[in-house]
Amino acid sequence: MLEQLDFLENRVIRVGAEAVIKEISWKGLRLVAKHRVPKRYRTAEIDERVRRSRTLHEAKILWHLSENGQPVPLVLFIDLANSIIYMQFLEGVELRSHQSPLRYAERLGEIVASMHSMDVVHGDLTLANILAGEDTGLWLVDFGLSAFNADLEEKAVDIHLLERSAASAFPDKSREFMHLFLRGYSRVVGREKTSEILEKVKEIRSRGRYVVRG
Ligand SMILES: Nc1ncnc2c1ncn2[C@@H]1O[C@H](COP(=O)(O)OP(=O)(O)O)[C@@H](O)[C@H]1O
Ligand SMILES: [Mg+2]
Repeated sequence: MLEQLDFLENRVIRVGAEAVIKEISWKGLRLVAKHRVPKRYRTAEIDERVRRSRTLHEAKILWHLSENGQPVPLVLFIDLANSIIYMQFLEGVELRSHQSPLRYAERLGEIVASMHSMDVVHGDLTLANILAGEDTGLWLVDFGLSAFNADLEEKAVDIHLLERSAASAFPDKSREFMHLFLRGYSRVVGREKTSEILEKVKEIRSRGRYVVRG
């Protein structure tokens, strides 16, 4: 597969715990290769199975979301034998290091709400996995922990994680960020569903405190 692709490696974007992210050029297109690298702490056979199934899962969710008009990178190829996804390169800045994150909060709320309406959850909704482009353009990446057929609790976990991520990235603006986020969210799913999910978020928050104290 790699030979056939005939690509040029431009740079390594990130070496994460699970994957290496590279920017590559292929036929004049800018792509990202997300390679889930072997982990020695698992036996080779299990390791291969885990990487392959996560790669396939992420690609499936990305396809499903793209098909439904959600702002996620388009998948061009998957190389299952090596656990690599080749996808569209997105020009953007991670929201956690953006100068004006508040500008994007309301739009983010709409996007997450519309994904939740499809019963899909992101599973790792931190500001590192949200890329901000020009104007109010936003993209979501990193769907390795996402889920289809998600329930209320899983949706609330998305919001809880986002809240914690915002609180650590920009503590002085995170309240306003979440306020705007929820305005966008409730515009899509309505006030009733929004209050229902906020009740759940509260519950998760208090469980977290209990764990910390205990
Ligand atoms: N399609 C993409 N276009 C541009 N940057 C990307 C793309 N996918 C991932 N990135 C960048 O690489 C980082 C790590 O990718 P991610 O999929 O989140 O892997 P990890 O599992 O290591 O967190 C992201 O936070 C983002 O900054
Ligand atoms: Mg990530």
